[in-house]
Amino acid sequence: MRKNSFSTNTLSKVLEIISIKYKTEARLVNLFETQLPIYQPSTKFDNENVKKVTNDVKWANVFVLACPDYHGSMSGTMKNFLDFFWKEFSGKTFGYIVSSHEKGLTVMDQMRTAVRQCYAWSLPYGISINEREDLGSDGKIVNSRLQSRMEMLARDLVVYGRLIYCQFSKDQDSAEQNTFAHYYL
Ligand SMILES: Cc1cc2nc3c(=O)[nH]c(=O)nc-3n(C[C@H](O)[C@H](O)[C@H](O)COP(=O)(O)O)c2cc1C
Repeated sequence: MRKNSFSTNTLSKVLEIISIKYKTEARLVNLFETQLPIYQPSTKFDNENVKKVTNDVKWANVFVLACPDYHGSMSGTMKNFLDFFWKEFSGKTFGYIVSSHEKGLTVMDQMRTAVRQCYAWSLPYGISINEREDLGSDGKIVNSRLQSRMEMLARDLVVYGRLIYCQFSKDQDSAEQNTFAHYYL
């Protein structure tokens, strides 16, 4: 929720690798620019930002959630975004980026829990960025391990995301009834 956010900048770089190296279409939803109202279950939102974000969520097969560490938790903005959706996430693959001074593992765990509750898959690792150690004064990455993990995340999202989503779609179209994909038709 700020300009030049470290988590958003890191996400942009990962999406750039996904688009350029893996020739895979990627969209960035910036919740600072496209702000959502507070979710209410009984409200039908006639709000342009809700429509835009919903359209992007339905379009995507794979997600990267990027979030700062706020009190060891995901930001309210991220939780509010997640509250808008569930079926739209099912069968899709998620990766995680957290900007934190303390690795942000609890933040990642919370996002993972919400994602699992929506019957979606998570990569078994995430990326933590600490600007004090990882970035130079010009904002460029000075930690080669971080750079390498960003490349790994981009690659794994494309490869595992495709495999998992293809199988989920196949299962949805299959006559076999007892699969979680069938349940989510
Ligand atoms: C409300 C608030 C709570 C925060 N709580 C923590 C925290 O518990 N642990 C931590 O390491 N950093 C904490 N921070 C610092 C941010 O996580 C850190 O500055 C992060 O890099 C910001 O990410 P951004 O650049 O994407 O906004 C907090 C910042 C704010 C504004």
